[in-house]
Amino acid sequence: MAKVYTISSGKGGVGKTFFSINLSRALSLLNFKTLLIDFNLTTPNVSINLGLGNENNNIHKFLRGEIEINDCIKEYEDNFYIIPGSLDIKDLIYISTEKLHNGIMKIYDDFDYIIIDSAAGIGKEALEALKASEEVIIITNYEKSAMFDSYRVTKVLDNLDIKTFGIVLNKIKKDIDYVNAEKFFKKKIIGIIHYDENVQISMNKGIPLIDYNINSIASRDIIKIAEKITGKELKIKNSFIDNILKIFKWK
Ligand SMILES: Nc1ncnc2c1ncn2[C@@H]1O[C@H](COP(=O)(O)OP(=O)(O)OP(=O)(O)O)[C@@H](O)[C@H]1O
Ligand SMILES: [Mg+2]
Repeated sequence: MAKVYTISSGKGGVGKTFFSINLSRALSLLNFKTLLIDFNLTTPNVSINLGLGNENNNIHKFLRGEIEINDCIKEYEDNFYIIPGSLDIKDLIYISTEKLHNGIMKIYDDFDYIIIDSAAGIGKEALEALKASEEVIIITNYEKSAMFDSYRVTKVLDNLDIKTFGIVLNKIKKDIDYVNAEKFFKKKIIGIIHYDENVQISMNKGIPLIDYNINSIASRDIIKIAEKITGKELKIKNSFIDNILKIFKWK
């Protein structure tokens, strides 16, 4: 039976899609069969950030009742599966967002983890993703307005009796003392992800950061979070050449 987490935020552009992709990739490397669902229906970005085109079988078609949920599952890497969104704006009509929950129930037993990349805030589409998950991970940048907006999401979740698994602070430029953030949210900070220039490079290349550079700081931060979630440790195998380059600080 899969554990289902929705990745949510108060504000847009804080790193939900980047985190969803790389958390899913880290879980797959830890040998957990993982499915990432692009449920940001108005601006779906998962396939673009994974170097794919407009996939014919997508979540929009499923939400219109044209195909089964199983038909839109695509294997991206070993243990890493995705359900992409349609990039065609015409596909936004006649969709029933409430079909997500039932769809997930049908594939529940086929995966260890299901990660839902959602829209920001608490609009209809975002709420559907939140309701379909067991627990929610909220990602925010460490700045006042983003933190306040995220706090509002945690309150809505509390009112809906949906568990917040924890908060992730993203784009952190220096080490921060996150005790205050924990006090502010009254929720656990499950990790911080540093600001990392490789994020944009990997996204533009259409590769998960973890595949582009597993040793970059944000990759390591996300792997740490995946290890916390699973209780399993990822052994990163550096090649002999990599180790030599590192000894001489050429890498
Ligand atoms: N740790 C990081 N370091 C540097 N840049 C980052 C980091 N995380 C995300 N970004 C950048 O922030 C931008 C937004 O990221 P992303 O698309 O993942 O956000 P989002 O929350 O999914 O946005 P939306 O609400 O529009 O769906 C991208 O340009 C990405 O490269
Ligand atoms: Mg996004």
